[in-house]
Amino acid sequence: MRGLPLYWKVVLTNGAVFLAGTLALALTPARVSEDVLASEAVVLAVGLTVMVVVDAWLLRSTLRPVDRVIREMETVDLVRPGRRLDQPPAGPGAQLVSGWNALLDRLEAERAEGSAKALAAQEAERHRIAQELHDEVGQSLTVVLLGLKRAEDQVPPELADVADDLALVRESARAGLDDVRRVARRLRPGVLEDLGLLSALAALASDFTALGRGHLTRTTSPGLPPLSPQAELVVYRVAQEALTNVARHAAATEVALSLTRVGDAVVLEVRDDGHGTPIDEPGSGVLGMRERAVLVGGTLAIDSVPGQGTTVRLAVPA
Ligand SMILES: Nc1ncnc2c1ncn2[C@@H]1O[C@H](COP(=O)(O)OP(=O)(O)O)[C@@H](O)[C@H]1O
Ligand SMILES: [Mg+2]
Repeated sequence: MRGLPLYWKVVLTNGAVFLAGTLALALTPARVSEDVLASEAVVLAVGLTVMVVVDAWLLRSTLRPVDRVIREMETVDLVRPGRRLDQPPAGPGAQLVSGWNALLDRLEAERAEGSAKALAAQEAERHRIAQELHDEVGQSLTVVLLGLKRAEDQVPPELADVADDLALVRESARAGLDDVRRVARRLRPGVLEDLGLLSALAALASDFTALGRGHLTRTTSPGLPPLSPQAELVVYRVAQEALTNVARHAAATEVALSLTRVGDAVVLEVRDDGHGTPIDEPGSGVLGMRERAVLVGGTLAIDSVPGQGTTVRLAVPA
């Protein structure tokens, strides 16, 4: 039956069982009277049972993998890649399972490539916006600041009120310039490229502390294995999003950020003691963290217990 379509396999299997039953009736002395006798009923029941059992046994190897693949289709999640069905040794089920596994290989590869492109484009865009903020908005604000200072110096002493107003405006312009620099720094972690991951995390930690949304403790174990620049960027962005979420949603008092080595992996953990929520509907922040983790072959786990807080744990292979 090898190579036959599934439909014909089922038809032929059932046909063979029916044929056996028919031949048994035709060629053996077994007969059924008009009013079925008890002994005949027993023979019929035994015959029917044998046919059903043989049919089920023959169809089992063909159809069971179909059910497994259907169940798998309903639950598969490309954000958690690497799950595959065990390959049955032979039969149409084996073809189905190997086809399914090959389909997953292809989808996961395409997805990884797609999200790598999307994230690279996002980083490039952030880079560009940060540059423009710094070079253009930052420049214009600096010019405004200098102009205000010059104007202030030229105000005659009898117009002290005007000088005070100008000083206030200059203060606002300076605050605006600080905001622009801060936003640009968040968009493009220059400190990551210049000073490395640990300094970049320290900068994130002090940004978080400045928000006043909880007391942050930062621990990094010494002798961490080096990470690729891409993996460092992933660790940085996940820490950034996790801390932003703590500031926005957690209402925490204690927050712990740690970077440690576990076996061959570097593990980032952001733990808060806020109110925690079951994150049933991940927003773009949580999805982005997952996508990034997958991109560098890492894993991301978020553990949130209502009333006890949330832990975000990212492990990336060194
Ligand atoms: N540390 C946290 N504490 C409590 N709730 C959180 C925390 N992190 C995430 N959440 C919940 O998970 C949701 C999804 O987070 P996210 O995907 O980052 O979206 P966003 O931050 O844009 O709302 C949040 O809206 C929030 O309800
Ligand atoms: Mg968020």
